[in-house]
Amino acid sequence: MKVVMIGSGYVGLTTGVALSYIGHEVSIIDIDVKKIDKLKNRIPPFHEQGLEQLLQETSSSMSFYDHWEGINLDVDIIILAVGTPSKSNNEADLSYVEDAARQIGNKLTRNMNPLIVNKSTVPIGAADKVKQIIMQTCTAKGFVSHIQVASNPEFLREGEALYDSFYPDRIIVGVDSDFARNQLYSLYQPILERTFKPLSVLPKARNATLPPFISTSPNSAELIKYAANSFLAMKISFINEFANLAEQVGADITEVARGIGLDERIGTRFLNAGIGWGGSCFGKDTRAIIQTGKQYGSEMSIVQTVVQTNDKQRELVVKKLQNYLKVLRGKTIGILGLAFKPNTDDIRDAPSIDIIQRLIDLGVYVQVYDPLAMEQCKLSHPSLDIHYTETAEEVFNQAHAIILVTEWEEFRTLSYQHLVQRMRNNLVIDGRNFLNGEIITEYGYTYSGIGKGS
Ligand code: UDX
Repeated sequence: MKVVMIGSGYVGLTTGVALSYIGHEVSIIDIDVKKIDKLKNRIPPFHEQGLEQLLQETSSSMSFYDHWEGINLDVDIIILAVGTPSKSNNEADLSYVEDAARQIGNKLTRNMNPLIVNKSTVPIGAADKVKQIIMQTCTAKGFVSHIQVASNPEFLREGEALYDSFYPDRIIVGVDSDFARNQLYSLYQPILERTFKPLSVLPKARNATLPPFISTSPNSAELIKYAANSFLAMKISFINEFANLAEQVGADITEVARGIGLDERIGTRFLNAGIGWGGSCFGKDTRAIIQTGKQYGSEMSIVQTVVQTNDKQRELVVKKLQNYLKVLRGKTIGILGLAFKPNTDDIRDAPSIDIIQRLIDLGVYVQVYDPLAMEQCKLSHPSLDIHYTETAEEVFNQAHAIILVTEWEEFRTLSYQHLVQRMRNNLVIDGRNFLNGEIITEYGYTYSGIGKGS
């Protein structure tokens, strides 16, 4: 099939590369000229496992555009994968989606009938809005368009976005017609039936079951995306709330999480207590669905609490520091990790930024190391008054405490027994319950995890 992908962010690019690998001809357009320049040279604009290799492998079936003039829309499918950032009132900002719809309308001619597929996370009813904009633009040009718009939410995790593209748990399509359903089945057929050539750059499928193809109404598909992200965020906030209680009553949240997670109805995943969730999706989507609830008179009180609990969780680390060190002004604190989770350089809505900002406000000297995300942090938070170190070890120099914020694998094997000697005070706050507290204590540290009261 011929596919046009609008947007070369995490979703657009990884999906585009995967579609190209399974045999489609994919053109990607993005208004970010620098990004497209990189992609034309097969340089990934962000870090994602396997992306560089796959960009090379698919070079004959992928093309990149930074302007609409050159791109051909006489294709089978046009996928919208542009950003939907938060507006100041937390609603999803649809202006990129609407601009893309107008551009499509401008370029379509009478004989073109691509299926428009919306992958951006959009408020309920946005598929209709996109359809309206395209049809109005065509009417203004003098012909009636019979364009159809489907909703096809993605559930990709950063760092594992390619794996998730090839081995999804399910494919959801929100469609109004058999035509749309069939087009989307054909698009994903090699993934649904797992007939694509095995990939050397990705781990093998963890699950032998083929992904189900589920067709729903467009509105249900849009709501599924918000419900999925809210539910996952809820699991984390839930375990964090219990972690705080565990600490008070002398229990260990890791044991509690395992004890409840083995009940298949609950499941063990997404029950790691810590400094809370971050990233480009959970915060934006939970806040947007709360707003949608308000518009329809449906108070999303559980989701509201999930967000509040998460905000508080970021403050908890600073409170812990105050409990141990009392006055923080003038102290040196070392931070291990900036990225909102390991294996990515993404710091969007990362807990690290809030924690660091709070420490700076309290007069702390902050020294930081992250294996991938430091450049990103310098670019997006130039005014953050922090000292970036070249190695993880330097973070310990003269520090009164260390906070582990991101569970990078390389932080597990630091030579903690020696590093303690570099510190002025021996406190380690493990914001991800990542280190072995007993061993760390044996090395001479005061160790404090999250929810480790026993
Ligand atoms: C998430 C969803 O998983 C994905 O399906 C959706 O499409 C986009 O949002 P992602 O943002 O890549 O993906 O991150 P994810 O791996 O889900 O982690 C989100 C945050 O939760 C991270 O900050 C992570 O550290 C935190 N987390 C995760 C926990 O604190 N505890 C857990 O048990 C799991």
